[in-house]
Amino acid sequence: MKILLIKNAIIVNSKDIASKPQDILLENGRIAKIAPSISTKEAEIIDAKGKLVLPGLIDLHVHLRTPGQEHKETVETGSRAAAKGGFTSVFCMPNTNPVIDNASIVESIKKEAQCVGLVNVYPVGAVTKGQKCEELTDIWELAQAGCPAISDDGKAVHNSQLMRLALEYSKMAGVFIIQHCEDPCLSHRGVMNEGLVSTTLGLKGWPEVAETIIVARDIELARYLKARVHFAHMSCGRSIELIRMAKAKGIPVTAEVCPHHFTLTDDLVRSFDTNYKVNPPLRTAADVAAMKEGLADGTIDCITTDHAPHAQEEKELEFDHAPFGMIGLETSLALTITELVEKKVLTFPQLVEKMSTAPARVGGLANKGEIREGLDADITIIDPKKEWVVRKEEFASKSHNSPFVGRTLKGFVETTICGGKITYQA
Ligand code: DOR
Ligand code: ZN
Repeated sequence: MKILLIKNAIIVNSKDIASKPQDILLENGRIAKIAPSISTKEAEIIDAKGKLVLPGLIDLHVHLRTPGQEHKETVETGSRAAAKGGFTSVFCMPNTNPVIDNASIVESIKKEAQCVGLVNVYPVGAVTKGQKCEELTDIWELAQAGCPAISDDGKAVHNSQLMRLALEYSKMAGVFIIQHCEDPCLSHRGVMNEGLVSTTLGLKGWPEVAETIIVARDIELARYLKARVHFAHMSCGRSIELIRMAKAKGIPVTAEVCPHHFTLTDDLVRSFDTNYKVNPPLRTAADVAAMKEGLADGTIDCITTDHAPHAQEEKELEFDHAPFGMIGLETSLALTITELVEKKVLTFPQLVEKMSTAPARVGGLANKGEIREGLDADITIIDPKKEWVVRKEEFASKSHNSPFVGRTLKGFVETTICGGKITYQA
C-alpha cells in the first residue's frame, strides 16, 4: 500500500481546531505520525493548504438497498456516493429484500463492500425476523457475524414486550438498538406531518405523538433495564425535550437527526413534490428550531443522513403513493456547514463531533472519529468556503431523489481517504 503524506493540514478534531498547519503521515492504514514538518521520499503527497482536515465522516443511517432493490442503489454506487460525500464508514439498514435478519446476508454484504473497497460498511441486523415485529432474530448470531447494531428501521419495534426482550438480549450480545420511533396505530397511513398544512392539502397526517410515544416508552425501558437505546431520525421538538430529560437523569439514550429535519418544514409539501415525502415527515419551523437547539446543547448526539434512494418512476407517483425517503450522502456535510456552521449553531469542532466522533462512540468504532497517531487513516479533506450547486447529473448515487437539487451550498469535499487509501478526489 502507498504511503500518503498530507502537508499543511489544519486538523479539526471534536475538541479543537489546530492553530498551526501540520503534516500527517499515513502508513499501513493508520495515522503513523503528526508533526509540524515531515519529509519522506516514498510518499504520495497531498497538499491541504487552505483546506480543513477532518476525521473521516461516519454515517450511522444509510440504505444501500442490497439485497433486492439494486435498481435504487448497490453497495458499489452507495459506496461511491458515501466517499464523494466525505464518508469513510456507514451503517446500512436491514429493510432490504430479503431483510438482513441472518448471518449469511450480513456476511455477503460485508464481502461485497470489501470488494468495492471505498468505505467501511457495517450492516445493521434486524431486531425481528422479516421486520414483522412478531419474533426476534438470533441477535447473538447477528452480533457474531459483525453487526454493531440492530434495528427494524423503516418500522418501529412497537410491541413493548418484544422491545424489552430485544434490549435484554442485545445488551448481552454487546450490540445496541437503533429505534425507528413510530407507533403504527397512530401514524396509520399518514403521509406528512399532521397539522395545518395536511388539513389544507387534504393529505393524511402522521402526528408527532406517534413519534414521541415510542421515544417516551423506550426511555422508560432503557431506564428500567439499564440498556442502551439509540433514537433514529428525530423529527419533533417534543422528542428532544424527552431525550434531554432522560439524559439529565443518566438514562442511556442517544439520538440522531438528519439534515432535512433541521433544514426543511412541512410547508414545502404544498408543492406536492414527492422529494419532500420522508419518514418521519418534515415538521414545523418550531421543530426545526428545536433540532438546532438539541444539536447545540448536546441532546442530539449525531447527524445521520437516512440516505434513502428511490427510483424516479416510483417517486413520480402521486404524493399518497410515492415511497418515503430522500438521498443524503452527497449533501449532508455541505448542508451542515451551510445551515449550522455558517449560521453559528455549531462550530467546526462540533460538526466533527456530530458527524464523526460521536457516531464512532455511539457505533462502537474504537479506532475512528479522531485524527490522532495510531488511529485508522480515515480522513476527509474539505474546502469550507467553496460554494457549489447540487446537480442531479453529478450524483454518484444510483438514485437522484433529493429536494436539494438546484441549491447552492457551501463546503466542498476535496479528498476522502479510507484506511490510508484515496477513495475520492474532486
Ligand atoms: O424516509 C424513509 N425512508 N424513512 C425510513 O424510515 C425508511 C426509508 C426507506 O427505506 O426508504
Ligand atoms: Zn431509515
